[in-house]
Amino acid sequence: MFHLLDGRALSETIRAEVKQEAATFILQTGVIPRIVFILVGNTPASEVYVANKGKSSEESGFSHETVRLSEQVTEKELLQLIEQLNNDSKTHAILCQLPLPKHISEEKVIEAIAPHKDIDGFHPINVGRLSIGRGDFFVPCTPLGIMEMIKREKIETSGMHVVVVGRSNIVGKPLAALLAQKADGANAIVTLAHTAAGNKLGEYTRSADILIAAMGAPLAITRDMVKPGAVVIDVGMNRIPDASKKSGSRLVGDVDFESVKEIASAITPVPGGVGPMTIAMVLRNTLTAAARQTR
Ligand code: GUN
Repeated sequence: MFHLLDGRALSETIRAEVKQEAATFILQTGVIPRIVFILVGNTPASEVYVANKGKSSEESGFSHETVRLSEQVTEKELLQLIEQLNNDSKTHAILCQLPLPKHISEEKVIEAIAPHKDIDGFHPINVGRLSIGRGDFFVPCTPLGIMEMIKREKIETSGMHVVVVGRSNIVGKPLAALLAQKADGANAIVTLAHTAAGNKLGEYTRSADILIAAMGAPLAITRDMVKPGAVVIDVGMNRIPDASKKSGSRLVGDVDFESVKEIASAITPVPGGVGPMTIAMVLRNTLTAAARQTR
């Protein structure tokens, strides 16, 4: 029997902890943690993500605002808004939802956000400090949520072979760096696999004690690609057509849950696995940002 890694339940515990800590922080300092979300255009998935993050910020007792900009906003206008938020001492965290329209450089936007307000951990200063493992920095919320899940579920990582599939800057690369660090809850032997593995991907995934799928390919990890007893963590969020649903589609991960659960020792569902952990880490990082800016 597999163990379900219930990210929704875990995230509720973490959110209650953050709410409690935020209340104490506000009482002691008189400062209310504040996060500003920037949403450009109307990508449906981004709308949903930002709405969920806003609602969770509200429940944590934070001050929050979502600045909505039209698809046509210029790069200059967006950079000016970020500059203004960087200089606003009441705003501790800035989250500009990606992807951005093609005429705006994501690189410029990411580098414009002050590193101490960059709770996404996307700024090169944060990426560099994470890689070195020293100083004040922010870890991107999805990798941080996965590390927190591994810790709270008491999954042994030291000396284990972790295979991360997918090399994105948001998930795969930072996760590989975190897992390889010489630290409690890490210390893993890490393989970062990706599309270039082609039809040899299974050779890599089958040697994983912990398999993390973050390549954005619906149901791509099948039972034959998983070692019996492996822990399987699914970061995928893919919409696929499903005529039996009223919406005409359904959300699936990168892992074929139904077949893989028969062989894994533990597995995350989609939805309700990694997604809720990401939101909990947005809150955790925002409180950290407020505390660092108040000390
Ligand atoms: N788009 C997809 N994931 C993320 C994320 O973690 N942060 C931001 N800002 N945009 C995203």
